[in-house]
Amino acid sequence: MLNIVIFGAPGSGKGTQSEKIVEKYQLNHISTGDVLRAEIKNGTELGKTAKSYIDQGQLIPDELMVNILASVFDSFEDSKGVIFDGFPRTIPQAEALKRMLQERNQGVSVMLDLEVPEDELMDRLIKRGQISGRADDNEETIKKRLAVYHEQTAPLKDFYKKEGIYRHINGLGELERIFADICAAIEE
Ligand code: AP5
Ligand code: MG
Repeated sequence: MLNIVIFGAPGSGKGTQSEKIVEKYQLNHISTGDVLRAEIKNGTELGKTAKSYIDQGQLIPDELMVNILASVFDSFEDSKGVIFDGFPRTIPQAEALKRMLQERNQGVSVMLDLEVPEDELMDRLIKRGQISGRADDNEETIKKRLAVYHEQTAPLKDFYKKEGIYRHINGLGELERIFADICAAIEE
């Protein structure tokens, strides 16, 4: 099993690069953000709860997120592995992921950290907000998302360094160059 955590700040290119990885390595993709946005669109109870957090740029509570993740993970059949995009985002989520995979005799193969300067992140998300209209892509909410990332999510770099599977990727520049660096890290 090839289980990959794709990591990075809001706008770092997790979703964009995940699509390319999925195509090349035939993996299943879990984007917790996409899962939550689908629930919101469908007007479910979970969606209503999620919306109140997402619109504030805050994280959904860990326990809720971990349960959703496990049920999506277990829905895949004959999987060659999974790319986790936007999960884990807190230390308790990383510990829960480790436990969940251990219980299934699996583990995370590599954690890819897409690093992009903050002014570029802001530019990308503002632009996307103008085109796609994602509700959390406005300047005020983007700032909150970035602050939450630094406080709660960035500490996971050390968690995965200790696990010995951390790989830094320069996420600024051409899509294809970034993808080539990702493939090299995966195949290492
Ligand atoms: P989520 O959906 O995960 O959003 P995010 O982390 O804020 O990241 P984005 O999806 O905005 O960016 P991305 O890194 O995927 O970049 P993308 O490829 O789109 O989470 C949203 C919310 O859901 C959270 O705030 C939270 O409330 C909740 N949530 C989700 N997961 C959770 C969890 N585990 N626990 C608790 N709560 C959770 O690229 C961005 C833009 O840049 C695009 O327009 C793209 O075309 C462009 N772009 C990409 N690469 C490049 C490049 N190389 N050069 C130029 N432009 C580029
Ligand atoms: Mg995304």
